[in-house]
Amino acid sequence: MEVVILAAGKGSRMFSDKPKVLHSIGGSAMLEHVVRTSRALHPQKIHTVIGFGVQQIKDYFARSNTADLTWVLQAEQLGTGHAVQQALPGINIEDGENQVLVLYGDVPLIQTSTLQELLSQTDGETLALLTVLTENPTGLGRIIRNTAGEVTRIVEERDANSEQKQINEVNSGIMCVPATKLVRWLGEIRNDNDQSEYYLTDLIALAADENCQINAITLADEIEVQGVNDKTQLALLERHYQMNKQQELLDQGVTLRDPERVEVRGELSCGKDCVVDINVIFEGTVSLGNNVVIGANTVIKDAVIEDGAHVLPGTNIDGATIGANSLIGPYARIRPGTVLGANVKIGNFVETKNAILGEGSKANHLAYIGDAEIGRNCNIGAGTIFCNYDGANKHKSTLGDNVFIGSNSVLVAPVVLANNAFVAAGSAVNCDVPADSLAVARSKQRNIPDWKRPTKGQ
Ligand code: UD1
Ligand code: CA
Repeated sequence: MEVVILAAGKGSRMFSDKPKVLHSIGGSAMLEHVVRTSRALHPQKIHTVIGFGVQQIKDYFARSNTADLTWVLQAEQLGTGHAVQQALPGINIEDGENQVLVLYGDVPLIQTSTLQELLSQTDGETLALLTVLTENPTGLGRIIRNTAGEVTRIVEERDANSEQKQINEVNSGIMCVPATKLVRWLGEIRNDNDQSEYYLTDLIALAADENCQINAITLADEIEVQGVNDKTQLALLERHYQMNKQQELLDQGVTLRDPERVEVRGELSCGKDCVVDINVIFEGTVSLGNNVVIGANTVIKDAVIEDGAHVLPGTNIDGATIGANSLIGPYARIRPGTVLGANVKIGNFVETKNAILGEGSKANHLAYIGDAEIGRNCNIGAGTIFCNYDGANKHKSTLGDNVFIGSNSVLVAPVVLANNAFVAAGSAVNCDVPADSLAVARSKQRNIPDWKRPTKGQ
């Protein structure tokens, strides 16, 4: 079996410079969802027909392995039949049993299980068609059946008469066709319709005319085959997608304070007894261990959060590992390259970037920790700044174990503070500090006795 995904359309009603299929659902382009679903069926090849925003689409997919994808250019969009035709040169027709499954880049929620069921309806001779019952068939192709209940053709809305318009069984667009027959039928379709387009749907009448069996599977859930043509439909599908994600989490035993206020824009895995408060967004790949608590109004992206860690409200985590039983936030900003050991405390208005903090270390208030390697049980005082950038290059600060940095200090990197080093508050440290030493790097205080305060002028 080979898959052809139609994705050449511009999507004018999105009012966007981006091709429609790159608009995202759950953090991934609609087309990526369809590609992933296709892969789960293990096809020989996946052909994607593109036409508008070709470079943008290729750039998007260049971030991942696309060895199994072939791009087919449809320079002019002359209809769904014409689109499939463009993919034919790459399809194996030598093998008489090869099937072609047609999917749509703007129908992102189609499920693998539904497609498997559809594929089970074909045997190399028959045509399988996915139809759906809907209350509102407007704009969709109607399924015409004969008195025996067999599908005989599809009539597009614009070409339908008033009687046909009453039919509420519609074409999802998704079908699976024997490859050799597909080639022959596509050669026969014409564009003598209201839109002067080559309709893929005309295949059905051609198949029926030569008594090819057409097996239709009828879905009751129209969301699965709902296409996206505008931002309203995009938002609708996003809500359905999120609803499913929320339900999956609840089913796994995650406590969601309000399921509707948790968003998963990627992959989230959770251990036992995790609690997620309201307005939490998970992006990319996030894994929570057991007994993890995520506070309100947090955004967590590409992170590993180990057992028993608490993320307090207002915190932003991106590209980090948070050790077991750590306490992060409220209002902390944990940036890429942060690796925190167990029992670390990062408090309010602390920013970390490319920073490793050993077990039990603390930065409880107002600090910037960038390009640092910090040992165990260190204490980074309020207002400490790791000056990692000299205006041109980044440098590293290295702290041993049990290092204490007094409040309002700056560490001018590169600098090494050995075990048990102690930095007096308000210091500007620009030399290494040996083990067990106190560094005082601030001007000495002098007191001026009997000093008179200035008085206000007249
Ligand atoms: C199509 C079906 C209709 C079905 C509906 C389901 C046809 C003629 N009609 O109608 O029966 O009910 O889908 O949503 O097939 N595309 C290309 N190249 C083209 C034309 C379209 O790649 O030349 C792509 C579009 O980008 C889109 C998809 O094919 O992703 C469907 O095309 P569209 O024009 O939206 O077809 P519909 O009118 O929705
Ligand atoms: Ca459409």
